[in-house]
Amino acid sequence: MVKVNLSGLELKNPVMSASGTFGYGKEFAEFFDLSVMGAVVCKTITLKQRAGNKPPRIADNSCGMLNAIGLENKGIEYFLQNALPFLEKFDTKVVASIAGVNPAEYAELANILDKDNRVHAIEVNLSCPNVSHGCQKGLFSQNAEITAQIVAQVCKNTSKPVFPKLSAMAADITAIAKACENAGAGGLTLINTLPAMAVDLKTRKPMLGNITGGLSGGAIKPVALKAVWDVYQVVKIPIIASGGIMNANDALEFILCGANAVQIGSANFVNPLACKEIALSVDKYFEENKLNSIDDLRGKLEYETV
Ligand SMILES: Cc1cc2nc3c(=O)[nH]c(=O)nc-3n(C[C@H](O)[C@H](O)[C@H](O)COP(=O)(O)O)c2cc1C
Repeated sequence: MVKVNLSGLELKNPVMSASGTFGYGKEFAEFFDLSVMGAVVCKTITLKQRAGNKPPRIADNSCGMLNAIGLENKGIEYFLQNALPFLEKFDTKVVASIAGVNPAEYAELANILDKDNRVHAIEVNLSCPNVSHGCQKGLFSQNAEITAQIVAQVCKNTSKPVFPKLSAMAADITAIAKACENAGAGGLTLINTLPAMAVDLKTRKPMLGNITGGLSGGAIKPVALKAVWDVYQVVKIPIIASGGIMNANDALEFILCGANAVQIGSANFVNPLACKEIALSVDKYFEENKLNSIDDLRGKLEYETV
């Protein structure tokens, strides 16, 4: 087993689900025992229930998928009363994902979750391309100042590890990553979906009700790899990779580029067993290659400086 420690969050292996692609685990528990996973990262929650965007919300794409769910969720109260009692039955860690329209809302969510020992860490969604934010145009994580403010507020309200989730759509993701580290983040999740759109030539309409959405899956893997590699050069805190991880080799490539852990997203829509299969295969690779800890592979990309 490849154990991982993400600023106090101890995982039995580096494989987690990606927020929004695994619900609260219920549907996937019908296929496999969630205890095989390092952690379940839950669908992003907000203070109040959100209806989400106009359908259709998902569109297929030759090299990935597009979604514009719009953070539909039943709010934090539902999460506490329904999602957590289910998840606590499994021997895995639970990471809650939160979103708000301003720093105060993020702080309030963190404060509520801090009191609940069924939640082991908090991912801070600062990078959803499918919602409009209250206090600024664009994504929070495109702006180092507002990102730092939110992360600092969240950290002030919880003693659990805090993982801001960033977008590659920033002028300089390393500056945003450093701002998070300085604000007290325990790790970083890189990256969220990339803004995108798809059209139907026959109907001359957009494929998504929201017109635009977020691209995920294999198409974004090279972008995510570079984000992880770039950020790995400048921060000391752990990196959790997300973006186009469809199999164990993808996961291992991300670890080679500096990731401590990986999240499985769109792959769950193709194969409901993806998290289990990738977790077992990553473990097997470490065993077969006589690697004793994540650091024996992490950041060990071999290259000549150019
Ligand atoms: C249908 C769908 C819903 C998503 N919902 C969320 C969400 O609620 N919160 C979040 O932080 N990311 C959300 N994401 C982004 C994923 O967590 C992940 O970062 C992204 O899809 C890239 O990983 P992948 O290429 O492995 O899918 C969603 C992605 C998809 C496809």
